[in-house]
Amino acid sequence: MQISFAAPGQVGSGALVLSVQDGGVLSSQAARYDEMTAGALKRAIEVSRFKGQAGQSIEVLAPAGVKSSRIILAGVGKGEKFDGNAAERLAATIAGRLLASGEQTLTFALDAPKRAKISEAEMAAHLATGAYLRSYRFDHYRKLGEDEKQTLKDVVIATNKAQAARKLWTDADAINEGIFVARDLVNEPPNVLYPDEAAKRASQLKKLGVKVEVFDVPAMKKLGMNALLGVGQGSTHDARMVVMQWNGAKKSAKGKDAAGPLAFIGKGVCFDSGGLSLKTGAGMMGMKGDMAGAAAVVGLMHALAKRKARVDAVGLIGLVENMPDGNAQRPNDIVKSMSGQTIEILNTDAEGRLVLADVLWYAQSRFKPRFMINLATLTGAILVALGTEHAGLFSNNDELSQRLTKAGLKEGELVWRLPLGDAYDKLVKSKIADMKNIGGPNAGSITAAQILQRFVNKVPWAHLDIAGVAWQDGEQRPLAPSWGTGWGVRLLNRLVADSYE
Ligand code: BES
Ligand code: MN
Ligand code: ZN
Repeated sequence: MQISFAAPGQVGSGALVLSVQDGGVLSSQAARYDEMTAGALKRAIEVSRFKGQAGQSIEVLAPAGVKSSRIILAGVGKGEKFDGNAAERLAATIAGRLLASGEQTLTFALDAPKRAKISEAEMAAHLATGAYLRSYRFDHYRKLGEDEKQTLKDVVIATNKAQAARKLWTDADAINEGIFVARDLVNEPPNVLYPDEAAKRASQLKKLGVKVEVFDVPAMKKLGMNALLGVGQGSTHDARMVVMQWNGAKKSAKGKDAAGPLAFIGKGVCFDSGGLSLKTGAGMMGMKGDMAGAAAVVGLMHALAKRKARVDAVGLIGLVENMPDGNAQRPNDIVKSMSGQTIEILNTDAEGRLVLADVLWYAQSRFKPRFMINLATLTGAILVALGTEHAGLFSNNDELSQRLTKAGLKEGELVWRLPLGDAYDKLVKSKIADMKNIGGPNAGSITAAQILQRFVNKVPWAHLDIAGVAWQDGEQRPLAPSWGTGWGVRLLNRLVADSYE
């Protein structure tokens, strides 16, 4: 989909979107079109229930007197609640309806509603983002029927602030690209995207100036990453770890960002069968997406590099396939992690924490980062607690938590903080090793987080349990039309941009 910004006078043919405020009040551009169409727009409002409510719209097909093939009247409500998220949802909903409608061009010519929370240029860039994110498809493996093929090619945002909007769009485009990268990785089937293939895809970041290192099994053995390796040992696909470095910060005299890089760590279980603690058939559904944390990290690194973020950031992903096999890890095994701590495996399906234990330890030992944030589809229990609206946030640092919460509200990727504490930590004590890999029947997301925390020293750290938000089976979000949502790229990009650049 091609996005462009143009002056309002240049509107051509195709579908045209105009705004209407609460009470059926036409914007000035809508009023102009109402005149040209001899009152067709006002009449359309009169004969319908549409009165400019936010989120609603009506369509006037083939209006006489204008070049447009259809005019869509989009409600922006009273105006004061019209923010970036509202603009994106509006554009996404309308673009979604027109994607395969036969229309090739869609022009948004909205007047920024009075008392709106955003500038005109911001509104333009958000409209573009909404339409663009909605245009995502994952169609590599099927033939499309003639009427399913996407026809919409050009989205034009008509605005008096075209130049300022284009500037904002350069960054937004980079972030949106990163989201598409993450979605593609999550959507790929597990027979295609196994650890080595995922590492190869991550290696494409080199084209953007990211330094990429891939660690194979012998390299990880040498480092002592036995917790991660134990998870992968039942698979015919060998494990990998990928380290991605983006060095965009202005350099101090020493040539390094004194505070250390920001570190992002992702769980990359390319398929989670549960291992010998085998999942049920139903429980295995969607487990190709158990690498969504890793996908978000790759997408984020893409976004940061593409928009040349002035920050030093490292992304680390642990890639394994969790399979049952004669060589698979057993419940009752004890593994020694890279940190030296031993873990009694009591359920091979609690594998994400084992992967992250070693990658977190490696990240903090090698990079001395300013903070560590990990993303993981870690527990089914987080779905029980928070559903699909919020990701779970666990952290040892109030400031980092607040920043993440704020960034989430801005970007529409919400997080909700849950507690950590000694009383919970006790639940993962083992009689025979330094810890066991599961807690009891209660507080499953928290005990998982407690295990991660045992591999984090003094560094500020946050764990995002994204099992509820990384993919969607039922109704789809307006901005995320595919199974994989790409959740986390926007959130973390916003965090970086607002607090660390
Ligand atoms: N990948 C799963 C968590 C998951 C479940 C993600 C459902 C998305 C949807 C994780 O590896 C897992 O299996 N966790 C177990 C932990 C348990 C054995 C302590 C779980 O949540 O059941
Ligand atoms: Mn599992
Ligand atoms: Zn898993």
